[in-house]
Amino acid sequence: DMGGHDTYMHKEISEQPDAVDRVLRGRIDDRFSTVHLGGLNLDAREARTIRRIKILGCGTSYHAGLIGAGLIEELARIPADAEPASEFRYRNPVVDPDTLYIAVSQSGETYDVLAAVQELKRKGARVLGVVNVVGSAIARETDGGVYVHAGPEVCVVSTKCFTNTVTAFALLALHLGRIRDLSVADGKRIIEGLRRLPGQIQEILKQEDEIKKLAKRYADAKSMMFIGRVRGYPVALEASLKLKEISYIHAEAYPASELKHGPLALIEPSLPTVAIIPNDDLLEKNRAALEEIKARSGRILAVAHQEQEKADHTIVVPKNETELDSILMGIPLQIFAYHTALALGRDIDKPRNLAKSVTVE
Ligand code: F6R
Repeated sequence: DMGGHDTYMHKEISEQPDAVDRVLRGRIDDRFSTVHLGGLNLDAREARTIRRIKILGCGTSYHAGLIGAGLIEELARIPADAEPASEFRYRNPVVDPDTLYIAVSQSGETYDVLAAVQELKRKGARVLGVVNVVGSAIARETDGGVYVHAGPEVCVVSTKCFTNTVTAFALLALHLGRIRDLSVADGKRIIEGLRRLPGQIQEILKQEDEIKKLAKRYADAKSMMFIGRVRGYPVALEASLKLKEISYIHAEAYPASELKHGPLALIEPSLPTVAIIPNDDLLEKNRAALEEIKARSGRILAVAHQEQEKADHTIVVPKNETELDSILMGIPLQIFAYHTALALGRDIDKPRNLAKSVTVE
């Protein structure tokens, strides 16, 4: 049942305010400015002994894991990184007893992720899951974890589940932070930011008509470049994946700082750039990248907290706490990918060559 929407993707994009509300519900503890994660199965004493966190997933879930690693480093100051699960499992990884491993999967059935979990468990590692489908294979194999509570996702490409997974990572990062060195004041600030998310997502959804117009303007591109820095880079990766998957337009994502190390050679009027530009400490650096692109006559679509002078068009998104901004910045680009694919007449819910859950190697 599409509930009045033309596609499941549109329905699922629109459901995000409610979905985010669900991942937060019942978990916030205002008294201690933290969150409770019932299924985590990791007590405070254990949480304090973690030396490193390694996050494993595929595709969109890997991108959510990259944002999750950033949140964990920022809020809990635990070294964290993310890696595609298949790469990890085929490189005979060094499994370290002081590292906490986290498997991320919407379906909970992705074979490469499941196999990585099984290999880790065989070597005695502690593995948690950040999973959407309750009772799925990965949820059962892990020692505990955080359910993402996005509700069923039918469209082959992931939208609401990505947003909820990233929000679930923010909860986990806050929880670990408050057990370690995150102050009460910062805990409170992050909680207030989390509570603002559903309303701010609603604000973004209201811009659909403008984003649709932009999508039509850029739909003739043969290829697109997505750039971002630090918090913005995984957002660029995910937005580029979404565009490729449903519109079949070739897209690349690069850290903005890497442009001058090669990809700048591609920039010309027929290769538009989508730039993720939050109002954070890297704003000026990001603006400098826009200047480099403009100097080569590249077209620029910015996703930012304020109108960008150097850009041809800006989608302005509401500002949250700096650490949480990346949760919001991908959403207009889901809508952008959707309307680009629609303008090109693609089969949005069932893109060619792809399956909803990849249960083979
Ligand atoms: C992207 C997409 C895929 C999945 C990937 C992992 O829109 O749908 O990249 O994210 O196959 O799937 P899960 O999260 O079910 O493990």
